[in-house]
Amino acid sequence: MLTPGPIGVFDSGYGGLTILSKIQSLMPEYDYCYLGDNSRAPYGARSFDVVYEFTKQAVMALFDKGCNLVILACNTASAKALRTIQQKDLPHINPEKRVLGVIRPTAEIIGSVTKSRHIGVLGTTGTIQSESYPIEINKLFPDIHVESEACPMWVPLVENKEYEREGADYFIKKNLNNILQKDPLIDTLILGCTHYPLLLNKIKAFLPENVIALSQGEYVARSLQDYLFRHPEMASVCTKGGITRYYTTESPYKFSEAAAIFLNKEIEVERITLE
Ligand code: DGL
Repeated sequence: MLTPGPIGVFDSGYGGLTILSKIQSLMPEYDYCYLGDNSRAPYGARSFDVVYEFTKQAVMALFDKGCNLVILACNTASAKALRTIQQKDLPHINPEKRVLGVIRPTAEIIGSVTKSRHIGVLGTTGTIQSESYPIEINKLFPDIHVESEACPMWVPLVENKEYEREGADYFIKKNLNNILQKDPLIDTLILGCTHYPLLLNKIKAFLPENVIALSQGEYVARSLQDYLFRHPEMASVCTKGGITRYYTTESPYKFSEAAAIFLNKEIEVERITLE
């Protein structure tokens, strides 16, 4: 029997707040517990083993905080750690608890968005190298052609608050040109990284009119709502008080300052260590 608790949301750092805020807007009644592993972020260029090890520690910490359901809001963690945690670890840790990611919900909606059946995925080096997006998308929609482009400079641009300045233009244009050259028939680009929605204004400005840039937050939120509807046994052990607690592995002060960019509000943050 599970004891009721908040829904856990994990990211390597601040970026997952773009996902959390969409989940909170859609389902404000639930309690949430957000954890950012800021002291070890970014995960983007880390190896499979390290991302898996760090992500498992974070999931265990959220389980210890009472969460029964954890969302890996981080694309890199979803790409490199989710399957192993679901298949290898959860059966031993607690077969009733659940861990979900952000790649599957994004893959599920893409079939109804693209008309040309040619799409592009933008993400960290780790997410792109894992090929998780093309694999998940082609399982559901074998007719869709998927090209990918790693954009390793985009996360640092956001984290260093350069995302609205001209310095960002060079890297955004470069990666967009690269992917559209790989396949000129692309009509939809998945922003497969938590930080990229903050670059959306610039991305839109540099994209041809016929190409859509797709942020995943809303789709992940709707997919979670649908999951809770289809799994009343899980919904009944997710507490409803409308409270969110924030945890970071770095300085709470730095976290709450940076979080203001993502959430547009001041928050209280507690520091924890992961091991
Ligand atoms: N949260 C990561 C993602 O969505 C981006 C930041 C990082 O590299 O850790 O892939």
